[in-house]
Amino acid sequence: MKSANRIKRIGILTSGGDAPGMNAAIRSTVRSAIHHGFKVKGILRGYEGLINDEVIDMNARSVSNILTRGGTMLKTARSSEFMTKKGRKKAYETVKKNDIDGLIIIGGNGSFQGAHVFWKEFRVPSIGVPATIDNDISGSDYTIGAHTAVNTALDAIDKIRDTVTSMERIYVIEVMGREDPFIATRVGLAGGAEEVIFPHSLYSPKRICSEIIKGRKKGKISWIIVVSEGSAKAQDVADIIKKKTKFSVRALVLGHIQRGGSPEAFDRILASILGASAVDAIAVGRTDAMVGFVSQEIKVTSYAKAVMRDAAKARGDRYLYRLTKILAK
Ligand code: F6P
Repeated sequence: MKSANRIKRIGILTSGGDAPGMNAAIRSTVRSAIHHGFKVKGILRGYEGLINDEVIDMNARSVSNILTRGGTMLKTARSSEFMTKKGRKKAYETVKKNDIDGLIIIGGNGSFQGAHVFWKEFRVPSIGVPATIDNDISGSDYTIGAHTAVNTALDAIDKIRDTVTSMERIYVIEVMGREDPFIATRVGLAGGAEEVIFPHSLYSPKRICSEIIKGRKKGKISWIIVVSEGSAKAQDVADIIKKKTKFSVRALVLGHIQRGGSPEAFDRILASILGASAVDAIAVGRTDAMVGFVSQEIKVTSYAKAVMRDAAKARGDRYLYRLTKILAK
C-alpha cells in the first residue's frame, strides 16, 4: 500500500446495522474528501461489497438530498466472509484493483474489529466513524444514530402509556442496544418507567413483583418496565410478573423500528463533524483508529481501544437508573 499520507483516492463504506445519520456521515465524508482534493469511491454493502468488488465512483452530486434520510445509500451488511482470511484477501484485491489508498469505515464495534485486522494483515489504512444506535463504543461520548433511536423508542413508549393507564396494565417493553443499556436507561428516565432491566441493574423478578404488589395496594395502577435486549426477553419477564402478581401484563419488542427514520438534528451534526474529521485524520496519515467526539472535542482513538467497554458510560447508566427509580413513585 501507499503510505497513508500520500492518499489520493479514498473508499467509503457503511457496515453492520444501519443507523440514522449514516447518510449524513457519507455526505460529509464525500464532500470533505473532495474539498481535500481526493477522488472518492463508494463501496456497496460494506465488507461484502469490498469482497465482491462492488465499487462505484462518487462525486458531490452522488450525495445530494441524503442528509435527512435514514438508512444508508451505500447499503450495509454483516459479512461473515470478511471474518475469514480468505475473504479479507479478496477484499484486499478489490482495494488494489480500484487504486484505493485508504478507507473510511462508517459503522460500529464489529466493523472496527474487522478494520483493525485488515490493517494488521494487509496494511490498508482506515479511519472509522462511529455509527450505531447502541452507543457501545469507547472514544466518543455518542455514536451517530443513538439519539434518534432513543427518541424513536421514547415516542413508542409515550404512545403505549395511553393504553397502560387506560387499561391499568403492566407493560414490559424490550429495546435494542445489545449488551449496552444506552437506549434502555435513556427511555427509562425520559419515559417515566418504573423499572429498567439491563445487565448491571441487578434484575430481580422477586423484588419487581413485590414492588408491584405494594404499589397496587397504595393505588398505583400502571407500570412500564423497560428491558434492554442484552439482559432478558420481554416475554419471559412478562410471564414471570403475570404468574406472580396475577395482574394484566403485556410484552412488547420494539425491534428494528428503532433503527429507522430521519436522523434528528444532533445526529446530523455529529455525523457531519465526524465524517469531515475522518477525512482530516486519514489525510494526515492516521490509521487503525476511529474519530470520536469527547467533551466537545474531536478525538482519535485506536480501534483496539474503541471496542473496549467504557467505564464512564457505565457509571452514567447506573446513575440514570438510580434516578429513574427515585422518580418512579
Ligand atoms: O447493533 C445495532 C443493532 O440494532 C442492535 O441493537 C441489535 O441487537 C442488532 O443490531 C440487530 O441486528 P440485525 O439487524 O442483524 O438483526
